[in-house]
Amino acid sequence: MRFQIEELRQADGVGPYLQWVEPAVGEIYPQERGPESGSSARNFLVKSLGQKESVYLLGREEKTGKFAGFLFIARREDSFLATSSPFAYLLFTHPDFRRLGLAASLLVEGEKVLKERGLTKLIAPATHNDDAIISMGERRGYLREREYMVKEL
Ligand SMILES: CC(C)(COP(=O)(O)OP(=O)(O)OC[C@H]1O[C@@H](n2cnc3c(N)ncnc32)[C@H](O)[C@@H]1OP(=O)(O)O)[C@@H](O)C(=O)NCCC(=O)NCCS
Repeated sequence: MRFQIEELRQADGVGPYLQWVEPAVGEIYPQERGPESGSSARNFLVKSLGQKESVYLLGREEKTGKFAGFLFIARREDSFLATSSPFAYLLFTHPDFRRLGLAASLLVEGEKVLKERGLTKLIAPATHNDDAIISMGERRGYLREREYMVKEL
């Protein structure tokens, strides 16, 4: 394999990679993010490390050790329905390493870690018209469960 994947469970060691959270949020949540979203996402990620539902997988190019991408899963709560589930907040491959299978490998590993911890569900967000992401999910057994409609007021 061209990439090595490692799980980081403690805040130690995460520091150098936090710079990628903001670009990832920018690409994944272009409409929803606000001015504080980057720093909020970084703080949330660091605080959630070590929780049962949290999986932070770092992908690096095997030869050079360069950062290539990451997957960040954490518990997402719905206070209204009183439910919670692991949620894939960030799946991001650095533009230099796209279309080489890293995101697919991160997802396989993330699912494996969750299953080993006895968790039985993973929710992954997709923008409603992002056919590439939706097909990638559907080819891997993800089903579309809900869509949101938004009106700017
Ligand atoms: C989406 C993203 C994570 C894909 O990463 P990647 O490492 O290039 O993906 P992979 O090489 O593992 O490809 C996985 C699958 O997606 C498909 N795919 C990846 N990028 C694609 C694109 N731009 N258009 C169409 N299909 C694409 C691949 O063909 C592959 O298909 P398969 O099911 O036949 O294996 C990456 O483009 C990215 O970081 N984008 C910005 C952030 C983002 O949108 N994240 C997803 C939010 S859930």
